[in-house]
Amino acid sequence: MNESGADLGVLGMGTMGANLALNFADNGGFTVALFNRTVEKAHAVREANPALAGRLVPTRSIAEFVASLKAPRVVVLMVNAGRPVDEQMAQVLPHLKAGDILIDAGNADFNDTVRRDRETAGTGVHFVGMGVSGGEEGARHGPSIMVGGDKAVWERLKPLLEPIAARYEGSPCVDWLGPDGAGHFVKTIHNGIEYADMQMIAEVYGILRDGVGMEAPAMAAIFADWNTRGLSSYLVEITAVTLAEIDPETGRPLVDLIVDEAGQKGTGRWSVIEAQKLGIGATTLEAAVSARGLSSRRAERAAAAGLFDIRTEPAAFEADAAGLAELEAALETAKLIAYAQGYATLAEASREFGWSLPLGEIARIWRAGCIIRSRFLDDITQAYEAGGGEVVNLLQAPSFRRLVEEGQASLRRVVAKAALGGLPVPALSAALAYLDDYRRARGTANLTQAQRDLFGAHTFRRLDAEGVFHHRWPAV
Ligand code: 6PG
Repeated sequence: MNESGADLGVLGMGTMGANLALNFADNGGFTVALFNRTVEKAHAVREANPALAGRLVPTRSIAEFVASLKAPRVVVLMVNAGRPVDEQMAQVLPHLKAGDILIDAGNADFNDTVRRDRETAGTGVHFVGMGVSGGEEGARHGPSIMVGGDKAVWERLKPLLEPIAARYEGSPCVDWLGPDGAGHFVKTIHNGIEYADMQMIAEVYGILRDGVGMEAPAMAAIFADWNTRGLSSYLVEITAVTLAEIDPETGRPLVDLIVDEAGQKGTGRWSVIEAQKLGIGATTLEAAVSARGLSSRRAERAAAAGLFDIRTEPAAFEADAAGLAELEAALETAKLIAYAQGYATLAEASREFGWSLPLGEIARIWRAGCIIRSRFLDDITQAYEAGGGEVVNLLQAPSFRRLVEEGQASLRRVVAKAALGGLPVPALSAALAYLDDYRRARGTANLTQAQRDLFGAHTFRRLDAEGVFHHRWPAV
């Protein structure tokens, strides 16, 4: 530590906290104070990284931790979302002074971030909710960072965060996105999109496994090939890697030995809840969250598997060049629709909360470092730049509309074949249904309105007259 103290402190030495601290020390060249509730952990991080030891300052108490920081202080909390954040904030805040910055870098519910921002407002301490994406590797070598809070505080944080962020063509994947909960909201939607993207990939995997009868290593080659074109992304890349992996014990593909129950920590679910609150149909994100829920009811599914007398048509999928091209186009099109839904949620939140979220910039800082990083995010940035703030929905942006027009027939055929063959594709079919519903000028809600008026006198509007009407329906 230099004379005046550490440049910043990281509190929470779990995988993400420890790696973020190492990143600050290594790529930022900063002196970093470390604290963990189990104090030995902070010392262990220093011992395990002798090359950076000179820049790591493990401490034994919150008081020592805060005292070791250069004023005005910057404290980064990296603890589990929820109550642990409130508990740690209660511990740290009494030691901080006006002008200090307290950052929650975990996967917080943005509603909590808004509350914490309000609660700290009178203290003079600047609270910042900051989304960090990229998993363990990203935290250590360059995450994508979504910053909320006061813009003036961002100007102070910039020199600390830019050196540790991922870089895409030289530009750092970090930016200030809006006040209070904006950073965490954007991270939540990132995760919702992450869920949808992963679910769609899993559905195509299911088609190849159960519809075609293909083995995992053969599928690995297909995903690796798809990763060279439009689908090029981290998630498709790791799909190929996971499918290719052989279990050393049994010699079988490891993926075949993994229990088919997906975990989830809440961010995907929050994205869907927030989309619903905003009146946005993020149906592909919803399908992905629900599929994880159903996956975890494994015993119930196993019982149901033997219960129904349902005979489906033989699956009509082929693994020839045409069949694979169709799957590739279907996945690409559905993915595009999922991103459009995620972005529609961001746009609505921006209006609702008065955030002015920079939508093109968000895609820009997602291009490297984060879990959903992909080539395709460039297209989103370009669509927003070309639209000059006039993009109503990504699906209407000319470049996206063209891609959907080209790919929709494949998506339609894949969903239809899957339905006839009894293969579940909840996210792919949600994408198709959304596309067809979104582009239908005359919908069916007129009937819903008639029903509502009949049973509850909820009134309706008419196409042929101004005003609000109630009809005296026949008694039922
Ligand atoms: C990231 C990830 C990361 C993590 C989430 C989702 O952006 O680095 O989204 O935050 O993967 O916690 O995890 P679950 O799948 O367990 O909800």
